[in-house]
Amino acid sequence: MSNSRGNDRSPRPAAHPERPPDGAAVITRPAQAGDLDAIIAIDAEVTGIEKTDYWYELFQRYGASRTRQRLFLVAETEGAVQGFVIGEVRDWEFGSAPCGWVFGISVRPGARLAGLGTRLLGAICDGFRYAGVSQVRTLVARDNALVLSFFRSQGMMAAPVITLEKALEP
Ligand SMILES: CC(C)(COP(=O)(O)OP(=O)(O)OC[C@H]1O[C@@H](n2cnc3c(N)ncnc32)[C@H](O)[C@@H]1OP(=O)(O)O)[C@@H](O)C(=O)NCCC(=O)NCCS
Repeated sequence: MSNSRGNDRSPRPAAHPERPPDGAAVITRPAQAGDLDAIIAIDAEVTGIEKTDYWYELFQRYGASRTRQRLFLVAETEGAVQGFVIGEVRDWEFGSAPCGWVFGISVRPGARLAGLGTRLLGAICDGFRYAGVSQVRTLVARDNALVLSFFRSQGMMAAPVITLEKALEP
């Protein structure tokens, strides 16, 4: 079957091996500018939307000018980026004590169920601890059973807050 990124006969890009070999060493480290193509490709594969400008802007804020509070990490095996996590410590917003927020986590579909998501979440939680907070939060769509199962498997529970929203009239 063909798709917008080519067909099955295309040579597989070296940066995206179909599956990391079993037992391949996993490295989690801060994202670098050279990782952006792989990050954009993973996000596009997962969400179906390529958001190049968004990721470059996010990298400026969380990668290039990272602080203890802002974390943008990747997991790589054998030199290939397989997933990423991004988050930030937010102070006192919404009446809440300083807390680490995970804004996004994604593992390339071909590399899932091998512990990479667990490694990424563990690494960002280490960063949050280093930044001095003892709580981590995220937001998950109610119907996203996969992401809910993942976070639940990591010990995360419903928080004592709710999200409110309304459509803005034009
Ligand atoms: C959620 C996600 C990051 C998990 O990555 P992963 O590398 O597969 O996670 P792990 O291998 O560390 O899995 C840890 C646990 O999560 C749970 N889990 C992971 N995938 C699951 C699935 N498909 N169904 C049910 N539970 C699942 C399991 O409890 C698993 O532990 P187990 O393997 O011992 O059963 C990955 O599936 C993903 O990127 N999903 C899309 C994320 C997304 O939509 N991001 C944008 C919004 S944040």
